[in-house]
Amino acid sequence: MKNIFRTKPIEDLIKETQGEKSLKKVLGAFELTMLGIGAIIGTGIFVLTGIAAANYSGPALVISFIISGIACAFAGLCYAEFASMVPVAGSAYTYGYTALGELWAWIIGWDLILEYLFAIATVAIGWSGYIVKLLASAGIVVPKALANAPDAGGIVNLPAVLILAVVTGVLIIGVQQSAKLNNIIVGIKVAVVLLFIALGLGHVNVANWSPFMPYGWSGVLSGASVIFFAYIGFDAVSTAAEEVKNPQKDLPRGIIGSLIVCTILYIVVSAVLTGMVPYLKFKETAAPVAFALEQVGITWGSALVSVGAVCGLTSVLIVMLFGQTRVFFAMSRDGLLPKVFGDVHPKFQTPVKSTLLVGIISMVVAGFTPIGVVAELTNIGTLTAFIIVSAAVIVLRKHEPNRKRAFKCPLVPIVPGLSIAFCALLIFKLPVITQVRFLVWLVIGLVIYFVYSYKHSAMNSGKSNAA
Ligand code: ALA
Repeated sequence: MKNIFRTKPIEDLIKETQGEKSLKKVLGAFELTMLGIGAIIGTGIFVLTGIAAANYSGPALVISFIISGIACAFAGLCYAEFASMVPVAGSAYTYGYTALGELWAWIIGWDLILEYLFAIATVAIGWSGYIVKLLASAGIVVPKALANAPDAGGIVNLPAVLILAVVTGVLIIGVQQSAKLNNIIVGIKVAVVLLFIALGLGHVNVANWSPFMPYGWSGVLSGASVIFFAYIGFDAVSTAAEEVKNPQKDLPRGIIGSLIVCTILYIVVSAVLTGMVPYLKFKETAAPVAFALEQVGITWGSALVSVGAVCGLTSVLIVMLFGQTRVFFAMSRDGLLPKVFGDVHPKFQTPVKSTLLVGIISMVVAGFTPIGVVAELTNIGTLTAFIIVSAAVIVLRKHEPNRKRAFKCPLVPIVPGLSIAFCALLIFKLPVITQVRFLVWLVIGLVIYFVYSYKHSAMNSGKSNAA
């Protein structure tokens, strides 16, 4: 049974990426930073800010963003160290395999499946809300029954399902094309956020900032655990490792770079947002950023921001779906998931079958599940993966102190320790029902591991599927 803690040598991992099942190497530091921003700015800032300000943080939303940002910065430094050392698809899953052993790797991989699948669904539902609103302002009314999940008074959330079908198609065609499209969309998204700041700044009324913490520190921390969703995505940069031209240098740059840009934008946006409108008013809207501009009379700005949000959410979907298929790819190559997840299409050089599968599952989830449930599950899954990665940095520094690390996380074990502490705090502040659901997910994962994956692991035969 001690086999469940067998670790995978880093040399083997790198060799596998050169086999017949290899992915095209086309991405550089700039594309990675764009990929990161593409994944990061989305439903968190465009949708969840209103919920967090009205119900938990009040105007202290800025502090919630800073707390979550600090947690991600510590975790990001740990991710960057691993990404520069293990430049292989699969992100945290792969790192776990080299440092902590197979069982932990499986737990992280299972965790990442939860994170990505549910994040994809959350963002698609948010996208649906914005597009329905935009269509309505153009005189096209989408019936409520076709724009909401059953529990929200509808039959199916059709726009969410349709956008996922489109994104799945784009990803099947290939990484290079989708990275180019992503760059354009990210440009629009950042421009829209900057436009909001420029237009809103002049309408800040400092009276709206008091009371600053209407729900106290506990509220601020709960708000942080909700808007943590806004930062999710920088880890998606590392899932693309095998497609990076110079991973040792470019991966850490992509991760840290995109995190810095987004943190600055978030802090400014949340300060302006809560300064423009009294925080309780955000209870009335699902599109707080556009709503705030509307409230101060800038309707054209509000419409423009909505269009930008639709583009922004689309780019988040692209990166998330991409990330999910690459995690599957890595797990299948190791034999922990069936081989079909690792098949690369000879013409497109993308994992077509697993992209299709992820696309279809996320369509079902997005079409029929409430947004709150999926967003909180995404957060708890991600926070747990961050904790395991941070622990893995400490473990690998002890076991393999001399291994070449192109990027070194500073002050180990203090920084990984702080990452673990901050992430644990945010998990603790999530609702108990979310924690219970997460435990159920983990138990299902463990059953699958012992029934299927342990027996099929490529480590059993001493070589991997891809070699
Ligand atoms: N951070 C991403 C978003 O906010 C997942 O949509």
